[in-house]
Amino acid sequence: PPVPVLTIDGPSGSGKGTISRLVAEQLGWRLLDSGALYRAVGYAAGAEGLDLSDAEAVTRCAQSTKIRFQAPADGGDTRVIVNGHDATDELRTETAGAAASAIASIPSVRQALVDLQLGFRKSPGLVADGRDMGTVIFPDAPFKVFLTASAAERAKRRYKQLKEKGLNVTLGALQREIEARDERDASRTVAPLRPADDAVLVDTTGMPIDAVVAKVLAVVQP
Ligand code: C5P
Repeated sequence: PPVPVLTIDGPSGSGKGTISRLVAEQLGWRLLDSGALYRAVGYAAGAEGLDLSDAEAVTRCAQSTKIRFQAPADGGDTRVIVNGHDATDELRTETAGAAASAIASIPSVRQALVDLQLGFRKSPGLVADGRDMGTVIFPDAPFKVFLTASAAERAKRRYKQLKEKGLNVTLGALQREIEARDERDASRTVAPLRPADDAVLVDTTGMPIDAVVAKVLAVVQP
């Protein structure tokens, strides 16, 4: 039988990252953070001084960029190694999010990342976190969730996250940046952010993390 996949899609700040990690731990499944791949390509393109709207140059960059996920020995956050450089901290910023969103609207860039993403589907199972996991990359996934939350709550969560990481941000500016990014992700012609027809919708506004985890786990183990 095919290796099971749980896709978790949704906008930024919906809690996808945290929920995906916790659910993967509970199930003992692998985790694919597809947003980190787009962030890594945006970062690599920026480091090469490329114009992010130059589709051909950025596509070549997406094809040649070496991206590795590395679990640190001390059990801390997974590190993202881009062309041999630990770019984890740079990739977290809203600047990196905006660069990711810009290059993610280029169809050939998305195409360049397909096989890499499919390769994460290994026994005993995969939790795939992103925008198009259930619609484009793993349309045959037996388990699909779409997480949402109000825009205000999503901005607040991201604000708290970035503050904890010591980044200097203001809530108002962050909310505007997130809304602009979501708008771009939802309105692009290729792989727009939208729930798969067979996805379970979960609105996490005001829900504690463990309640969301329980709800998502129930999709896999009813
Ligand atoms: O999830 P994260 O905020 O890290 O994603 C950064 C950006 O990468 C998103 O705003 C989106 O434009 C893009 N992305 C995507 N498809 C995915 C994951 C992320 O287009 N599967």
